[in-house]
Amino acid sequence: MRSLPLVHSFLLSFSPLSVLALSIPFSVRTPDTTHHHLPRQSSTSSVVPVGNTQNAFYYSNITLGGRQISVMLDTGSSDLWVTGSVPGAHDTGNSLTLSYSVGNAAGDVYTAPFQFDGYTVQDQAFLLVNDTSTFSTDIHAEGYDGLIGLGPNSGSSIYKKLSGDSGNSALNRIFVQNSSSDNYLTLMLSRNGDPGSQIAGQFTISSVVPGFENITNQPKLPVEKVYKLTNKDQHWQILTDKGVGIIGPDGQPINYDSIVPKAPSGQIVAVLDSGFTLPQVPRSVSDAIYGRVQGAEWSTSNQAWLVPCGQLINVTFNFGGISYPVHPLDVSSSDFGVTFSNGNSACLGTFQPISSAFSLLGEYDMILGMAFLRNIYTLIDFGNLVKGGSSSNNPYIQLLSLTNETAAVNDFISVRLNGQNLINSPQYALLPASQQQYSPETAAQKKAQYEEKVLSHWPYILSGCLVVVLLLVAYCVWRCCCRRKRLAKKKAANQQAGPTPGGSANSSYAKLPDSGSTASLAMKPMRGSTLDFNEECRGDAFARR
Ligand SMILES: *[C@@H]1O[C@H](CO)[C@@H](O)[C@H](O)[C@H]1NC(C)=O
Ligand SMILES: *[C@@H]1O[C@H](CO)[C@@H](O)[C@H](O)[C@H]1NC(C)=O
Ligand SMILES: *[C@@H]1O[C@H](CO)[C@@H](O)[C@H](O)[C@H]1NC(C)=O
Ligand SMILES: *[C@@H]1O[C@H](CO)[C@@H](O)[C@H](O)[C@H]1NC(C)=O
Ligand SMILES: *[C@@H]1O[C@H](CO)[C@@H](O)[C@H](O)[C@H]1NC(C)=O
Ligand SMILES: *[C@@H]1O[C@H](CO)[C@@H](O)[C@H](O)[C@H]1NC(C)=O
Repeated sequence: MRSLPLVHSFLLSFSPLSVLALSIPFSVRTPDTTHHHLPRQSSTSSVVPVGNTQNAFYYSNITLGGRQISVMLDTGSSDLWVTGSVPGAHDTGNSLTLSYSVGNAAGDVYTAPFQFDGYTVQDQAFLLVNDTSTFSTDIHAEGYDGLIGLGPNSGSSIYKKLSGDSGNSALNRIFVQNSSSDNYLTLMLSRNGDPGSQIAGQFTISSVVPGFENITNQPKLPVEKVYKLTNKDQHWQILTDKGVGIIGPDGQPINYDSIVPKAPSGQIVAVLDSGFTLPQVPRSVSDAIYGRVQGAEWSTSNQAWLVPCGQLINVTFNFGGISYPVHPLDVSSSDFGVTFSNGNSACLGTFQPISSAFSLLGEYDMILGMAFLRNIYTLIDFGNLVKGGSSSNNPYIQLLSLTNETAAVNDFISVRLNGQNLINSPQYALLPASQQQYSPETAAQKKAQYEEKVLSHWPYILSGCLVVVLLLVAYCVWRCCCRRKRLAKKKAANQQAGPTPGGSANSSYAKLPDSGSTASLAMKPMRGSTLDFNEECRGDAFARR
């Protein structure tokens, strides 16, 4: 992928989730009449404007060593890195390479005074990337010269590299330093090419964008914690509502069984990741969204669906009992200049089947990137995930819907149908479910799914194996014990040595069958899985990793 020239793999953009990301061999079309929203300036509250390049990159200015630098805002990773020079930076003597889909960010870890949203950290650790030769894109041309990871501190490679707390992430440092304020960030992304949108890209720390205060009244969605052992993979992930997590174009829920072992039945685990341009959803979900559109075509080269640009597709997500409709301009995108196989222009189905970002450890089902995030104002409270912080509350997320369905349909009609309301005309009617198309799954993806089944259960497999070993040991001990006691009894009987001293021997005899049955009871609920465990214990689950 990295060897291909002119490849813009931003679709799976900057996120460690996408370390092995595939490349998407097309680029964002150069806008001719791009409509740029001027971020609202607020004098009273500190709000950082968020820039937008073609709905594919969102970035803000930070100051590092006195230099103003535009960095991509990435809620899916936790490190700060910049290119170019940083005046007065102090070299910590540590080198690091971070892998992203666009290439490797390699260099030395430095510290320098850092300012963001009015907060200052005197010695913020960051990676000064001196080698961008593997980057497949010109990030400067896309509007930024670095990246700020806004994920949990545990996911920071710089934190792991430096000793103590000196490598903590920028947000973590700000939160610890100012323990008087709440530990949250908020993010709002603009939509280019939408004449009806009043939304300006804005970012805040521990404050709310004026006019959107109601976000704090929205349901608090608990951040779904990943296994302790893999908590470096902790992302901002939440559960959809039971049974109605995703409402498809026909108004019916899209059924999908989560791959996350501990996800409650009927709920789907979604990561909110501003580093992904295209949301990554399970293949069956992507097929349910686009497979019934007349003229839909699967594009092997893009690994995404292509649909006619005039096709309005309704998709809604449900979290905490609240509906979050996705703007139809976000469900299919005209930003990519894609064409059908016959050469006619097409729009790209933005909800792309998840492949290389697929969670082999079964930690999440889907990654809701920018095309979804534009529809919500997001508040992320880090809670007790702040390392060294004073907050004890569990982390949570609040989402305020920004998309008015009625207004969105009107926008769509004016942008994609030249103002003619054809959305209910026969050419745009959905095909019957029986005629739905399905996208092909590659052998590698099938294999990944099989591996996930094994790997995601490995803590259970491990404990299952342990239980089996313990039961075997217990059984041996019990057998030995019985045998000794039988022998002793036999011996006693042979010697006719009168009654054994009291009922103690009897009661201990009586106990044995008891404890035996307790063991079998305890095993019972596990039986089905014990068999699986045995089988999987023999397989080389760990060798696969
Ligand atoms: C960053 O700062 C530069 C220079 O002041 C300014 O032109 C640009 O608009 C800023 N970017 C954002 C996203 O606010
Ligand atoms: C980048 O920094 C590393 C570590 O200091 C050094 O070995 C390497 O030569 C540098 N590369 C460039 C292109 O400057
Ligand atoms: C800490 O946060 C409070 C509330 O946001 C703010 O008033 C105060 O200035 C901040 N202090 C520092 C040192 O940043
Ligand atoms: C604020 O949000 C709550 C909860 O969703 C809702 O009931 C209320 O109507 C909202 N208020 C405003 C002014 O939008
Ligand atoms: C999509 O939703 C809008 C608003 O609720 C509605 O007017 C329109 O008919 C729906 N379109 C389809 C194809 O269901
Ligand atoms: C949604 O948009 C329609 C059409 O622009 C408008 O009449 C309606 O009041 C809006 N609804 C809300 C809740 O803002």
